[in-house]
Amino acid sequence: MTWKTIIEPFRIKTVEPIRQTTRAEREAALAAAHYNLFLLPARDVLIDLLTDSGTGALSSEQWAAMMRGDESYAGAESFYRFRDAVLGITGFPHILPTHQGRAAERILFGTLVKPGDIVPNNTHFDTTRANVEHRGGTALDLPIAEGRKPDSRHPFKGNMDLAALARVLEENPGRVPVVMVTVTNNSGGGQPVSLENLRGVPALCRRHGVPLFLDACRFAENAWFIRTREPGHAGRPPAEIAREAFDCADGCTMSAKKDGMVNIGGFLALRDPDLARRCTDLLILTEGFVTYGGLAGYDLEALAVGLREVLHEDYLEYRIRSVAYLAERLEAGGVPMLTPPGGHALYLDALRFLPHVPQSEFPAWALSLALYLEGGIRSVEIGSVMFGRQPDGSERPPEMELVRLAFPRRVYTQSHVDYVAEVVLHVKALASRIRGVRIVEAPPTLRHFSARLAPAHGALVATE
Ligand code: F0G
Repeated sequence: MTWKTIIEPFRIKTVEPIRQTTRAEREAALAAAHYNLFLLPARDVLIDLLTDSGTGALSSEQWAAMMRGDESYAGAESFYRFRDAVLGITGFPHILPTHQGRAAERILFGTLVKPGDIVPNNTHFDTTRANVEHRGGTALDLPIAEGRKPDSRHPFKGNMDLAALARVLEENPGRVPVVMVTVTNNSGGGQPVSLENLRGVPALCRRHGVPLFLDACRFAENAWFIRTREPGHAGRPPAEIAREAFDCADGCTMSAKKDGMVNIGGFLALRDPDLARRCTDLLILTEGFVTYGGLAGYDLEALAVGLREVLHEDYLEYRIRSVAYLAERLEAGGVPMLTPPGGHALYLDALRFLPHVPQSEFPAWALSLALYLEGGIRSVEIGSVMFGRQPDGSERPPEMELVRLAFPRRVYTQSHVDYVAEVVLHVKALASRIRGVRIVEAPPTLRHFSARLAPAHGALVATE
């Protein structure tokens, strides 16, 4: 018998209360936080979908393993268990622990990238882009055309535009020190990359002697999408598919706060011993000794277990289904969103949700505020506040105004998802009354984290 209901494949052993607030309390909280959800105390949030990064629940096996944490400065047992887990999954022999993903990026790009270089990616995540630019390089996004269309239903919208990559490699000999592919493509909507596409990348890179690195944060979710969407992979173990993806690459950077199933941690893993040695010098300089890299022994233990748990079929089925289930309910209610939904998150399309709010009044930001005001849900704007300001100080709105609802791993149940659907549908019903916002003050870079905003026209949601 195959049952229709896909359950959370765990039972709950420890609980953390979440706090209901009234709309009036949330209205006051928003004003006190200067209409910036990053400035909101978490205790005022009912369902927190700000990010899936470091916000997941640990399993009882992870907690048990943490008790074995060996806190020796050098050569800790925990390091070897961590190393064996990463080696077993990726096949990369040189493994450098880091405190999170961006530290691995900084070490890799700090070693490989020099001013004037170009680093192509399907789509760079903010920290990846910033770390390339910090070295004086250019971070180039080369997604396939369908990846830029919010309503295209291409099954692998995270794919790299191989023809464009071939041109970049051809036209810039000696200036491309590394090519990255992000699985899944977070900034492009949490969309997967197919194995076929991935295999095409090293075929091009090798011709030019350029290494390929995966930004592997969500490698397990990507493997699940390959299994369920790419011909020829149905029923295959996710670990086997993931390994085929890693086999295409020369190394990876990893934020283990995602598919490592831990609250903190990351790593850089690679094949080339000479590059590994150079990266190790930077690791010791800025993160810590090679056998802990800025992490506690117990963090390495939790990660070793998490990397295996994330590849369980029942976990991945539940994980991907949770987001798809929310998407189905919202689509049935006519809510505009990026399709198909991503693995870790669903992205609302604010340009179609609030067509009356001009981009100069930050529609995605206003929508994220309305979701909080009406239902206590925290999401994140991926739009003009995050990306609109150019280095010269001018404003250039991005192509899309999105609100990301990102799901922490193993934290929320189906009734939480039902509640989220109800709130989004309610906000959709009053969409015409939602007004835009204006920036009161903001720092010149990464302004979304600390900017102060205010409703542009009286109340955020006008009374009828
Ligand atoms: N690469 C991708 C694709 C990411 O999504 C992130 C983090 C990083 C690298 C950096 O990793 O945070 O451990 O330093 N993404 C989080 C998010 C912050 O909310 O999507 P980190």
